[in-house]
Amino acid sequence: MSVFSKPQAKRADQARRMIFEWHERTAREGLRDPVRREHGAWFVHRYADARRVLTDHDTFSSDELRYNPQAPHAANPVLRSLIATDPPRHAALRAVVAQQFTKRVLDRTRERIGHDAAQLANELHEGADFIETFARPLPTRTICHLLGIEPDPRFARWTDAVTTFIGTRATHDTQRTFAEIADYFRTWRRTSDTPLARSDLTDQEVADFCTLLLTNGTETTTTLLASAVLVRDRFPGAPDDVEELLRLLPPAGGTDRFATRDTTIGRHRIRRGDRVVAMVVSANRDPDVFADPHVHRPGRNPNPHLGFGRGTHFCLGAHLTRAQVAVALAQLPRTWRPLDLKVDGTPVGPQIAALRVTSGS
Ligand code: HEM
Repeated sequence: MSVFSKPQAKRADQARRMIFEWHERTAREGLRDPVRREHGAWFVHRYADARRVLTDHDTFSSDELRYNPQAPHAANPVLRSLIATDPPRHAALRAVVAQQFTKRVLDRTRERIGHDAAQLANELHEGADFIETFARPLPTRTICHLLGIEPDPRFARWTDAVTTFIGTRATHDTQRTFAEIADYFRTWRRTSDTPLARSDLTDQEVADFCTLLLTNGTETTTTLLASAVLVRDRFPGAPDDVEELLRLLPPAGGTDRFATRDTTIGRHRIRRGDRVVAMVVSANRDPDVFADPHVHRPGRNPNPHLGFGRGTHFCLGAHLTRAQVAVALAQLPRTWRPLDLKVDGTPVGPQIAALRVTSGS
């Protein structure tokens, strides 16, 4: 007999529908009007245009601080990190950690991820919050393993502070959190023998880099794992396919760039300095590229989704994520189903904040 009330199940159902519908609606509306000026930015929905924005770094810069130095969130450490740099600085920074993220090195971490996933799956009891019990700790443990640090209860708070700090000014608390993160990694560097710690980057640069790895390496994977549970529930019997999951429900739904010069996209004139957002949610459902774009089709081939970005900033953690999600899903019984679901809206899509599960038995 279930100990859960009907309202919970109903809420879960509504939230689940909201997530799937949000993605589909955004894609349909976006592709009807594929270059839109909204909230002071250009939103680019067609696949070909989004890919161009992501790959033509001469015209579309990742360096927000250069084009938007007055941004209220300018103090965000991620804005000073690898992801917000342009070539040639970008290549030099990426080279510092590239060897830690090759497929060969990551294959060696599979066993460790499998062990962690099995242990965490054991703690998933009836009614547990899947995010807090499994989907957040697993990627956190993996990144910690790569950096050679112990998971720390402060990391979740730090990640939240960094990922939600956009469009507003830093409060005293946020500033204190950023100082805390920088201190932590400055101390870590003194004793670590990882390539990042031993590089000739300054302490601040190392701290910003680690902050990027910690935040990008956890938040997105957490969301993807939660989406995997939702997709299993919505399409029972369908095999797991990480690529199709990334196409249909991409955790990074839109990616910012800044025009380095006047240019055009479609019939629109973009001015130097304008913010341009490559809308991955829509590009991934562009019928010019994907047949039956709103259909979940495991094994879709080819599947050139933009879920990990494209070009020079292509996700550094892509191999890691693929390995991690495949290993995690193998540990997760198919019978676990969403029971209660909470989503926090974000500018690019509903973010799954809490997902209580039931074993369905
Ligand atoms: C579901 C999981 C993930 C998704 C959807 C994702 C998505 C992305 C996307 C879209 C970009 C490109 C951003 C841009 O073009 O501006 C990116 C870059 C990046 N990702 Fe991931 N990511 C994931 C997991 C990870 C993990 C596990 C790590 C761990 C280290 C990671 C680290 C990075 C880094 C460091 C960059 C910046 C690369 C660069 O600028 O050269 N990501 N990611």
